[in-house]
Amino acid sequence: MLYGELPKKSDLQRVKNKLDESFEVPDQAINLIYSLPKESETIGLMEAAFGVLAAIYNPTWEKAKNKDIAIEIVAKTATILANIYRAKEGLKPRIPQPSESLARSFLEAAFGGHVEDKKVKAMDIALILYTDHEVPASTTAGLVAASTLSDLYSCIVAALSALKGPLHGGAAEEAFKQFVEIGSPEKVDEWFKTNILDKKKRLMGFGHRVYRTFDPRGKIFKKYAEELASGNEQVKKYLDIAERLEKLGVETFSGKGVYPNTDFYSGIVFYGIGFPIYMFTGIFALSRTLGWLAHFIEYVEEQHRLIRPRALYVGPSQRDYVPLENRG
Ligand code: ACO
Repeated sequence: MLYGELPKKSDLQRVKNKLDESFEVPDQAINLIYSLPKESETIGLMEAAFGVLAAIYNPTWEKAKNKDIAIEIVAKTATILANIYRAKEGLKPRIPQPSESLARSFLEAAFGGHVEDKKVKAMDIALILYTDHEVPASTTAGLVAASTLSDLYSCIVAALSALKGPLHGGAAEEAFKQFVEIGSPEKVDEWFKTNILDKKKRLMGFGHRVYRTFDPRGKIFKKYAEELASGNEQVKKYLDIAERLEKLGVETFSGKGVYPNTDFYSGIVFYGIGFPIYMFTGIFALSRTLGWLAHFIEYVEEQHRLIRPRALYVGPSQRDYVPLENRG
């Protein structure tokens, strides 16, 4: 993703070593996470922590260093997110430790102990599926910041701000909230009619600016949701609800090219791994950080130009200045 080629063994080891030695983050960032109210929203907490890192590190752009900084940021994102979970759950800080994968290091820091292979595998797959996807709103927002030569940590803050919204990265949380609201598979049809059809509302986790058919990532998430559902009745219930809702959604909206997107089933995977809903967008951010950074670095190193759109003014051609006391 970052280097454009699959690595040789020695390159992979170098990147892995860099990742493993970069999990530490300044105490001020950790303290900030633990000092804010437990109800604080996850992406806001990530922005705050990255704001601290931007203030402390403020790295300049240097071709020889940019990609190493990117690896450091990926590692620190895992630390920040694991500690957001721990702070919100009333647990003590914990720094991820080197392991065979970023997925395992992250999960074991968050949950504070050994995590079963099935969950680590699902997390690893989620990290891959969400890594990059062309130039959605978050990547675009970060690219605008990068184009000004702002530092890489600040570019992550810009990208996080755009990811947060329910029309983009926030959709997995919104999709899952629908399943929770529905409550049981036999209530899906009635819920769909009352809440989507009658109110003419959008089905969350459906539709995509680029895909006019099934999002291929969604199919893989569904497979892992099925694996996590075996032996877990609660996950199975949400999966059954989602499958029925997917069927109704496709029957109703496919004529407009609106199908389930990647966020429809991803929440069930995150829930099956053991995370509450408030972590879903943060996990998306953890995976997407690498893709964002690859875009920012490519843009600045290869085709750098300030991104500055123009606006087309369509208002009146002249308006006289009226003093405040005469404005009625
Ligand atoms: N449910 C029902 N109808 C929908 C949905 C939906 N989720 N999405 C689009 N439509 C309909 C629109 O109402 C519109 O119908 P109309 O032509 O009769 O007015 C038509 O499909 C086209 O919609 P647009 O808004 O033009 O599609 P656009 O490409 O702008 O929207 C978006 C993409 C924002 C993702 C939209 O599908 C949506 O709001 N989905 C719900 C939120 C969501 O799941 N976002 C995650 C996206 S994937 C990601 O970020 C990883």
